[in-house]
Amino acid sequence: MFMRPLRDDAHLAPLEVWHAEEFAAHLDRAREHIRPWVGPAFVTDDVTGARATLRRYAERAAGDGARMYGILREGVLVGGVMFTVFDAAGGSCELGCWVEPAAEGHGLVTQACRLLLEWAFVTRGLHRAEWHCRADNDRSSAVAERLGMTLEGVRREAWPYGGARHDKQLWAVLAPEWRAAAGEERPAR
Ligand SMILES: CC(C)(COP(=O)(O)OP(=O)(O)OC[C@H]1O[C@@H](n2cnc3c(N)ncnc32)[C@H](O)[C@@H]1OP(=O)(O)O)[C@@H](O)C(=O)NCCC(=O)NCCS
Repeated sequence: MFMRPLRDDAHLAPLEVWHAEEFAAHLDRAREHIRPWVGPAFVTDDVTGARATLRRYAERAAGDGARMYGILREGVLVGGVMFTVFDAAGGSCELGCWVEPAAEGHGLVTQACRLLLEWAFVTRGLHRAEWHCRADNDRSSAVAERLGMTLEGVRREAWPYGGARHDKQLWAVLAPEWRAAAGEERPAR
């Protein structure tokens, strides 16, 4: 139910508390792949932890805040995208994403993020969407670039991980930039 197609074999759908077991099984396939690059609270070890993440997002969604969506390929949860921040009053949001190794390199994340941006800018009228990633996360920076975002700056040594502190990039795209790019993609009549 409530699925949006990404392509023939893949869909985007809300990821909710009742998906805890499916989410935990997916994290078993994704955990070590995503651990260096995402917030530590997201990398849980069991169904209880997975359910806690889903509940946290559900509670924030109820207040028109953060939301999370799963990417399903042939009916199997392989990753997801989220609004880690959604601030309707302030007109801005921040996107996040992840996929398990087998689903990487197929364009699913960029496609899913485009749906989120379309909803944020067109349906909800937000003005600004941000993307935060470790500066050495080349695959993540590449998604931001594919989404038409601009690298606005680097927060030096803002990301602690594994006993070191890493630089963090801030990317963003504004609604007029998004609309202009979307217009360019429309086929000529
Ligand atoms: C960051 C991450 C989500 C990016 O995933 P991804 O699959 O590379 O991203 P996309 O969906 O944009 O896919 C792009 C790739 O698919 C390829 N591709 C294949 N078919 C495609 C299609 N139909 N359309 C677009 N791209 C396609 C592209 O060529 C590109 O591959 P390349 O980088 O080898 O050239 C993933 O690497 C990941 O989960 N990393 C660990 C967690 C993480 O870093 N999360 C982000 C925290 S900020």
